[in-house]
Amino acid sequence: MSDPTDQPLVIFTPSGKRGRVAPGTSVLAAARQLGVDLDSVCGGRGICSKCQVTPSYGEFAKHGVTVREGALSDWNAVEQRYDDKRGLPKGRRLGCQACVMGDVVLDVPPESQVHRQVIRKSADTRPMVMDPATRLFFVEVAEPDMHEPSGDFERLSAALAEQWEVTGLTADPSFLRKLQGALRKGGWQVTVAVYRDHTGAAPHALEIWPGLHEGGLFGLAIDLGSTTIAAHLTDLETGEVKAASGLMNPQIRFGEDLMSRVSYVMMNPGGEKELTEAVRGALADLAGALAEEAGIDPSLIVEAVVVCNPVMHHLLLGIDPTELGQAPFALAVSGALSLPASDLDLTTINPRARAYLLPCIAGHVGADAAAVSLATAPELSEELMLVIDVGTNAEILLGDRTRVLACSSPTGPAFEGAQISSGQRAAPGAIERVEIDPATKEPRFRVIGSDLWSDDPGFAAAIAQTGVTGICGSGIIEAVAEMRMAGLLDPSGLIGSAEQTGTPRSQPEGRTHAYLIHDGSAEGGPRITVTQGDIRAIQLAKSALYAGARLLMDERGADRVDRVVLAGAFGAHISPKHAMVLGMIPDAPLDHVSSAGNAAGTGARMALCSVAARRQVEEGVTKITKIETAIAPRFQEHFVAANAIPHAVDAFPELSKIVDLPAVSFNSGDGASGGRRRKRR
Ligand code: FES
Repeated sequence: MSDPTDQPLVIFTPSGKRGRVAPGTSVLAAARQLGVDLDSVCGGRGICSKCQVTPSYGEFAKHGVTVREGALSDWNAVEQRYDDKRGLPKGRRLGCQACVMGDVVLDVPPESQVHRQVIRKSADTRPMVMDPATRLFFVEVAEPDMHEPSGDFERLSAALAEQWEVTGLTADPSFLRKLQGALRKGGWQVTVAVYRDHTGAAPHALEIWPGLHEGGLFGLAIDLGSTTIAAHLTDLETGEVKAASGLMNPQIRFGEDLMSRVSYVMMNPGGEKELTEAVRGALADLAGALAEEAGIDPSLIVEAVVVCNPVMHHLLLGIDPTELGQAPFALAVSGALSLPASDLDLTTINPRARAYLLPCIAGHVGADAAAVSLATAPELSEELMLVIDVGTNAEILLGDRTRVLACSSPTGPAFEGAQISSGQRAAPGAIERVEIDPATKEPRFRVIGSDLWSDDPGFAAAIAQTGVTGICGSGIIEAVAEMRMAGLLDPSGLIGSAEQTGTPRSQPEGRTHAYLIHDGSAEGGPRITVTQGDIRAIQLAKSALYAGARLLMDERGADRVDRVVLAGAFGAHISPKHAMVLGMIPDAPLDHVSSAGNAAGTGARMALCSVAARRQVEEGVTKITKIETAIAPRFQEHFVAANAIPHAVDAFPELSKIVDLPAVSFNSGDGASGGRRRKRR
């Protein structure tokens, strides 16, 4: 018997996996033997080019090998044909064609890795590894034989089992209707998209193409919020986002917040059907629009993953949400769901596409919070980490390696620019950054669509297209915090008069005052002010957020947190300093406050691209302790104390190191604490 040490040594980079294989073994087979992640759709037929590797030659002291010319078999006719037709990058070989003849070092480029790591979006999100439920398989299917009668589906199924170890294939009648045509057109060679998730359910055939399908596969990651719906059209092979878009949730016409939609259902028998139809129609429209934007055939979209709060979850599924409106807030189903996308009337994508809904954590803490936990991984943190997903309903998570707590808090839509006099969605023309000079009380600002500040030369020209149209969520947060820092707003939230503040920009409005940020009326544009009503709306929203966080801290017995992570569609745009001045978040060193971007959306993308992530989130939610804010007696107490800016009782020692908040009071001195009471006297 030959000594195995006579066999060539193969070293794969970047994995560093190494081992000896029999001379003449193909690189693809060697990779499989050694557990190296090398892709293949065509099963080694030299037509998909997914198996590319780059051999390196010379002395490799690090690996203890010398790679000589001839370490791989000669460039062959199949590689030449591929190179002539499609072109192979210089130095690359097809792993299924090149055979190992001597010691060799082989680099597997990222695009040849099945489980390639998708670039981290931010330091606060888990890295994402491709491991999708739906994959393409190219197979050669046995031709029918009169003497051995068997169905085309049975022979396809046998081919998948034999060539790819995919056993027990199932399919819908609509798939079977396409089967015979595809097999004959492809000359008994077809590509099949097969869905296999983490549950152990039988593999399911979703789509079939004659020959080798090279048009890719796509999925939708949908973040279904109460106010906005955002979706990412994602390449299921690379994880790349092909198009992203959002629209307003059309259910808003039935009620701005969730509880008013639940009341609508309670008061209008059958109302849940209208709400379900509205949201399903919006999802179908959004899917169609994204496919068009990306120039992709919608039938190539084979999966959709949805994250949403419990009420949206029930309404999307067509389940009456009434139980969620009253204690004990019972969910009809809390576990993750995998179902045909057509059950959700998602008819603008592949008719056999699958949908996956992340699990809900509790009656008020939904799949969106589960997605945030998947993306930000508080259960892996050494430090006590507070994650706040800012939206109409804030999802709040607090925890570390020992324990994670979660709650949701009804902030209302103020942070999304709704209920604000000059509020608008984050779109070109919206004010997103504000600074107010504490000496002159003059503002300057930036609008979405331009990097220039309003006092920079060229600003007018830069915004000529969009104009200044309103103020978005991050803009109003900065405006209110800057007003507080500039002494235009007192801790109770009262805006001072022109006499009290010394600026004509403080203008009477009814019995209160408003601060003028921009007056575009001369050019037919809007006057953009921050009114007393706006301040009140922001106070309510931020108090709800802070009270939720405090409730979790109480439960945990913590007075402070080590890190704060802001998430949410616009969480990425919130300035940590301004959020702290406002008292939206507890005190922490500013460099310990960061943004995870749209973490719920990121979590949805992770679950779309990886079945391991689905397993992770399903296990993870069972370990999270849920706190119900609606029935927690201390919530109200925390809420009232958090109304002051930044806070009536809690100290902000880290904040006071960097910001001096003026000790102003615009109360007329009658002892009343709020502007309204004073004005009504
Ligand atoms: S595996 Fe398809 S070309 Fe090598």
